[in-house]
Amino acid sequence: MISEAPSVEPLRAGVIGLGYAGEQHLKNYARVPGVEPVALAGLERDRLRELGTRYGVPDLYTSWEDLVAREDLDIVSIGTPNHLHAPIAVAALEGGRHVLCEKPLARTGEEAQQIVDAALAADRAVHTAFTQRERGDVQALKRHVDEGNLGRVYHSKATWMRRNGIPGMGGWFTSKELAGGGPLIDLGVHMVDMALYLMGGPEVESVSCATYAELGPQGRGGWSGSGLMRGDNPYEVEDLATAFLRLSGGATMTLETGWAVYRESSDDFGVTLYGTEGGAEMLVRNYGTSNTVRIYTDVAGVPAVVMPEIEPREGHYAVVKRFVETIHSGDWKGQHGEDGLDRARIIDACYASALQNREVSMEEFRADR
Ligand SMILES: NC(=O)c1ccc[n+]([C@@H]2O[C@H](COP(=O)([O-])OP(=O)(O)OC[C@H]3O[C@@H](n4cnc5c(N)ncnc54)[C@H](O)[C@@H]3O)[C@@H](O)[C@H]2O)c1
Repeated sequence: MISEAPSVEPLRAGVIGLGYAGEQHLKNYARVPGVEPVALAGLERDRLRELGTRYGVPDLYTSWEDLVAREDLDIVSIGTPNHLHAPIAVAALEGGRHVLCEKPLARTGEEAQQIVDAALAADRAVHTAFTQRERGDVQALKRHVDEGNLGRVYHSKATWMRRNGIPGMGGWFTSKELAGGGPLIDLGVHMVDMALYLMGGPEVESVSCATYAELGPQGRGGWSGSGLMRGDNPYEVEDLATAFLRLSGGATMTLETGWAVYRESSDDFGVTLYGTEGGAEMLVRNYGTSNTVRIYTDVAGVPAVVMPEIEPREGHYAVVKRFVETIHSGDWKGQHGEDGLDRARIIDACYASALQNREVSMEEFRADR
């Protein structure tokens, strides 16, 4: 007799948000095995219909509350402005859904804590879409670090810098209330996450940060190609942030993240690692995927540079696939949004340091509530 593998019903996903992020979630629920997108919500009616047709989503909503109220969903995926992450996630978790949330998990550590608490109470999974750490080059570099080729990594430099890259000028991205901050919470959260991940997960012990708002408030530095939700609201967030972080084990990190700065006209991010046995630099220019990594080592006693050929990998695909596999596995212990919460507290500490003009200890932001 031929025994058949037990058939597993596909998980039913609902996606909220129709911008770049929402579409990435939708596209990958349509692509990854073991899941299907069955509901979609967003405010832009034409785009809602267009995406619904393109990805074969039967049920469309203009209110996130209506989507979350459905009782037949396994997954709620959040690709909305940051101020809605916590209310949507908590409502979905209280209804018994698993949640995939865009970065940042929330505007503040306090809101992120509410999400983690709700996930623990409901025993549901929360993953934060830290998509950049899933890139092929970051994963290859991570394997290199884990194999011990850099020795002990004692310093990193993380940057994400743009010349004219303020997303959705005058819309939610540039509102302190709706976004929680500027490039620090938008791009910096990716880079802090990536650098800590590559360094093997040291704890942040203290932070000294400065923020600037020089070009945005003058209406300069806007990015023409991004964000569905623009507007005429005043520019309220930083356009550049720089920080020095002390890490456990004596290591350190510098962070520089800007949406609009007089520099080369490009959109570049990267991480540099200095280790006791080797160094590495990853520099991604304009979202390119080739020739991004350089490894610094010694060969026969002289300095050598290795440029590995790395297969590209799409971040959102990897995030959605891991999330779906986690839910099918039935084991999501320790996956209630804890990493998103940790990063949210680090961003809180950076903003507090900038506001108070002093170095702040993470103890002040990690106290158990
Ligand atoms: N991981 C990544 O690579 C990545 C990339 C871009 C954006 N993001 C994150 O994704 C989120 C969304 O960013 P975006 O660029 O797609 O934004 P966007 O402005 O392009 O789209 C926001 C969407 O949210 C919807 N929305 C707003 N209020 C709503 C409501 N009350 N009910 C239902 N829908 C509502 C809007 O209709 C819109 O479709 C942000 O948190 C951002 O930080 C992550």
